[in-house]
Amino acid sequence: MFKVPSRRHFALIASICTLLLFFTYGVTADSHSPNLQAFPNGSGTLKTFSTQGSINLSSAFFQSLGTNGRTCASCHEPTDGWGITPEHVQARFDADGGLDPIFSPVDGAVCPTADVSTVDARRQAYRMLLTKGLIRVSMPMPANAAFTLESIDDPYNCATPQALALFRRPLPATNLRFLSAVMWDGRESAAGQSLVYDLTSQANDATLGHAQASAAPTAAQLKDIVDFEMSLTSAQATDNDAGNLDAEGGNGGPQSLVSQEFFLGINDPLGLNPTGKPFDSSAMTMYAKWANLNSSPNAKYSEARAAVARGEVLFNTLPIPIEGVAGINDVLNQKTVIGNCTTCHDSPNVGDHSVSQPLNIGLVDASRRTPDMPLYTFRCNLTGQTIQVTDPGRALISGRCEDIGKFKGAILRGLASRAPYFHNGSAATLMDAVEFYNTRFNLQLSSQQKSDLVAFLKTL
Ligand code: HEC
Ligand code: HEC
Repeated sequence: MFKVPSRRHFALIASICTLLLFFTYGVTADSHSPNLQAFPNGSGTLKTFSTQGSINLSSAFFQSLGTNGRTCASCHEPTDGWGITPEHVQARFDADGGLDPIFSPVDGAVCPTADVSTVDARRQAYRMLLTKGLIRVSMPMPANAAFTLESIDDPYNCATPQALALFRRPLPATNLRFLSAVMWDGRESAAGQSLVYDLTSQANDATLGHAQASAAPTAAQLKDIVDFEMSLTSAQATDNDAGNLDAEGGNGGPQSLVSQEFFLGINDPLGLNPTGKPFDSSAMTMYAKWANLNSSPNAKYSEARAAVARGEVLFNTLPIPIEGVAGINDVLNQKTVIGNCTTCHDSPNVGDHSVSQPLNIGLVDASRRTPDMPLYTFRCNLTGQTIQVTDPGRALISGRCEDIGKFKGAILRGLASRAPYFHNGSAATLMDAVEFYNTRFNLQLSSQQKSDLVAFLKTL
């Protein structure tokens, strides 16, 4: 089997390519990796297209700008859809017993004071990173909170009201021009500011936080990082079963995504589209042409392509009785809203929520807590209601009780390269993610419907 290159191998391969270029053509090149290089994942390959012409591996994104050796790529790897996977994190651990800079106690360990003196101690300390690719984001109770923190049940005895421990997945540092909110809780989206402004602030905070820099990066470094990450578009390009995702009228892969239209509010179902155009639940249109393929000349792919097309139709049209979702049912004041996957994943062919409105779909409910997660008990000051969650999400930014458990609707491209899913990595596979919706909204999906949905999600 082809071995997935690690981050170091990636740099090595790039330097070898540079050398080859030099010997073959007598030209020198900086450290670059070509556009549309294929990175294998469990179901095919992912490719990235950069409007800069190639992936510049000497950009500040790949430089250590802090004190612990980490770069942005430590947690945003080109091989992993610009996020990280437990599989590759484990490979990095095994390479030198957990000395790779990603294994830094500041937010890689279950507690910043965890013992990391031996290999065994490190394996324990970094187990959330190793098992689910989770980083420990630490945030205080907001000063103006309309809720009180009643108690903390933290398996690592580390969280305090000044530093709640929130285990979250790195979000992909690609396809950023489609964002309506930066970070799972939107905390890097400043009211009235541009996306570039927000990403500049994010890069600054990431350098000071994750990389423990003693001084802020220069304006030139920040611009280099933001220009770099904004240039990237990534998507699954080939599928082991369905072949090339842009064949026979398919519109998968990064090149079609580059020209995908997007603006804040595009295709919003609740009247927030600035053009006034009504919502179209068929937000995903990449594989419409695969619905009625003749079996030749690509017979071996026909069945798989038909499944992808069926999955896309399900994503667009399967009725979902949305109940108890704060951000939808309360806003509309309707106990049940019959929607679709695209009610929340409305941005055409990208799948994030096209407005910043965060939603609570129930992932952080006490009933879904696993023993490796902290559990926080809050009381809303106004109503006296008690709420138990593993992560309060947006509420730590807004201070509003209604925002407890709300997170942004995430971009769905490049999924196959970056399991596990959801902000807390609670779905190990795409089938698990589909199962979450199946039970949460009582969909009673058939096994064929589930596998069609997964076949579609894998091609994103
Ligand atoms: C130690 C791991 C780590 C490092 C190093 C790191 N990040 Fe991240 N990144 C994360 C995590 C975790 C999140 C999500 C956190 C959250 O939402 O609370 C994230 C989120 C982001 C996002 C938000 C994307 C979105 O969809 O909202 C961007 C952009 C980003 N990082 C860029 C960077 C840049 C640029 C650097 C280098 C300056 C960097 N990151 C370094 C872990 C890391
Ligand atoms: C009520 C709104 C809503 C509906 C309906 C909905 N989603 Fe989601 N989806 C979200 C939100 C919000 C998130 C991010 C949640 C989190 O991680 O905290 C998400 C995340 C995801 C993710 C994980 C993305 C990642 O980067 O980890 C997948 C996959 C997904 N949804 C697929 C689907 C599918 C398939 C359907 C239809 C069966 C669906 N969603 C219906 C709101 C919704």
